[in-house]
Amino acid sequence: MSKPVILDCDPGHDDAVAIMLSGLHPAIDLLGITVSSGNQTLDKTTKNALNLVQYLSLDVPVYKGVKEPLVAPLRIADDIHGESGLDGVTFERLTHSLQDKHAVDFIIDTLRNHEEPVTLAITGPMTNVALALKMAPDIASNIEEVVFMGGAHGYGNVTPAAEFNILVDPEAAQIVLNQPFKKTMVGLDVTRQALVTPEVVQTMDALKTQASKLFVDLMKVYNENQQQIFGLVGGPMHDPITIAYLIDPSILTTDYAHCSIDLSHGESYGRTNCDLFNYQHKEKNTYVAHKINVTAFWQLVRKVLAGAQ
Ligand code: BDR
Ligand code: CA
Repeated sequence: MSKPVILDCDPGHDDAVAIMLSGLHPAIDLLGITVSSGNQTLDKTTKNALNLVQYLSLDVPVYKGVKEPLVAPLRIADDIHGESGLDGVTFERLTHSLQDKHAVDFIIDTLRNHEEPVTLAITGPMTNVALALKMAPDIASNIEEVVFMGGAHGYGNVTPAAEFNILVDPEAAQIVLNQPFKKTMVGLDVTRQALVTPEVVQTMDALKTQASKLFVDLMKVYNENQQQIFGLVGGPMHDPITIAYLIDPSILTTDYAHCSIDLSHGESYGRTNCDLFNYQHKEKNTYVAHKINVTAFWQLVRKVLAGAQ
């Protein structure tokens, strides 16, 4: 039986791979894609989501979400993802249309009406999900789990303390962490273990499928930018790890800990403080991933891109 999932994302090169995995793997029943601003402005991330769904021939509705973070001004990641948010690929004329409904309304209605609990995978800032929870707190009871790419127990990637998705909307992230449902954090600690090395690109290139071609075109630009900014030969494959974990939870090793977001507006604003040693004796609220089975992860991605799960 497949798992009902809503993917909330801000595509984004690595979000694109999360869309591939969640849209193409039979273990996931992708109910809808809700879009946030983040890697680029909302208009661009929404267009990117529609282009990806069309390119992959997915029968998945796309909903546009909230334009700005709850408190902070919007910060984008065009240094990594470029002017379009998906630099490196050109799509055919867009015919796949956006749903009329707002992403926040879609999240609320789906959680209220779906007969079984729904999992939320969040691979961008958490603005849409936080607002849905504020507008309709009752929906929390029909959430199976929230798995999010964001944060770091170690150092950040925008400031020494903070990771991009959390830093864009720290207040939204705290609203999600305050909730009673299961939360799993896929932070930089694990995503930096899954690098898109030249060997990975070569393996995917050999598949010669529609999806693998997209992966290779995207990763070329992604890796160039990762090298320029972080000096990495092969950037971290952040977002798809959330989906890989939903397909095969054994891919990640986690610690259960109390996590909170630094909302102090000081230099560590947006940091995820995870009390892995339980110094503070606060109630544990998040499964924090610290290790990934990198081989199993890439095998899974390869199978999906090859079209043979
Ligand atoms: C996260 O930030 C974005 O640029 C990526 O898409 C990923 O979700 C990594 O910090
Ligand atoms: Ca993202």
